[in-house]
Amino acid sequence: MAMDRAMEPGWEPGEPGEPGWARPGGALGARGLLALAVASGAAVWATWAVLLMPGFRRVPLRLQVPFQPSSPRQVANSLALLRGRAGKTVDLGSGDGRLVLEAYKQGLRPALGYELNPWLLCLANYRAWKAGYHGKVSFLKKDLWKVNLSDCHNVIVFLAPSVKPPLASKLLAELPDDARVVAGRYPFPSWTPSSTLGQGLDQVWAYDIKEVRREVQGSAQQSQL
Ligand SMILES: C[S@@+](CC[C@H](N)C(=O)[O-])C[C@H]1O[C@@H](n2cnc3c(N)ncnc32)[C@H](O)[C@@H]1O
Repeated sequence: MAMDRAMEPGWEPGEPGEPGWARPGGALGARGLLALAVASGAAVWATWAVLLMPGFRRVPLRLQVPFQPSSPRQVANSLALLRGRAGKTVDLGSGDGRLVLEAYKQGLRPALGYELNPWLLCLANYRAWKAGYHGKVSFLKKDLWKVNLSDCHNVIVFLAPSVKPPLASKLLAELPDDARVVAGRYPFPSWTPSSTLGQGLDQVWAYDIKEVRREVQGSAQQSQL
């Protein structure tokens, strides 16, 4: 076997093209590159399927959003736009629970998160326990597209821009008139915010549903004329 021969004293690698020839400097060659590409693809897929997106089988692909945690500045800005408000606060896709925990800490109660990823639910519950909020905040394994939001007054959404249009329809159909929605990273493209805070990636936008409804109805009437 080549392995055994290679261990014999005086063994030299073959000439280019011969079996056992290795390019000087350890370059991989076509087969090595292919193996590396397959292994990297498998690693990326495994990370996606096992760590980031378990529990999402029943969610249509176009609505799936992977975990990308908010930065401390994004968390602070979001909660500043909800300061002093009453009623139920929810984070739609609560990840590791950081927004819900901070909301509770700042007096927004009850505070809860909907999340499908079981690893993130465990992490969020662990963080709640560590912060002394066990039993005070809730992280529920529910699909945000299937929960009814009619009793939510403060809604936080840190989701991809691709899901904003269907989410806008759901929020408009279900939220009470006095609800406020805070969006991080990407604004709702067809809504006018009542206020905004931060710059660049840290920017967050607040929308008062009553105002948004008035605007949407106004433009629907205009288009009928
Ligand atoms: C961009 S991350 C934001 C996490 C957290 N809100 C934060 O800002 O740190 C989006 C989260 O939504 C969750 N998610 C995506 N689609 C969901 C769905 N249909 N139902 C519940 N959670 C969902 C993902 O697992 C992910 O944790």
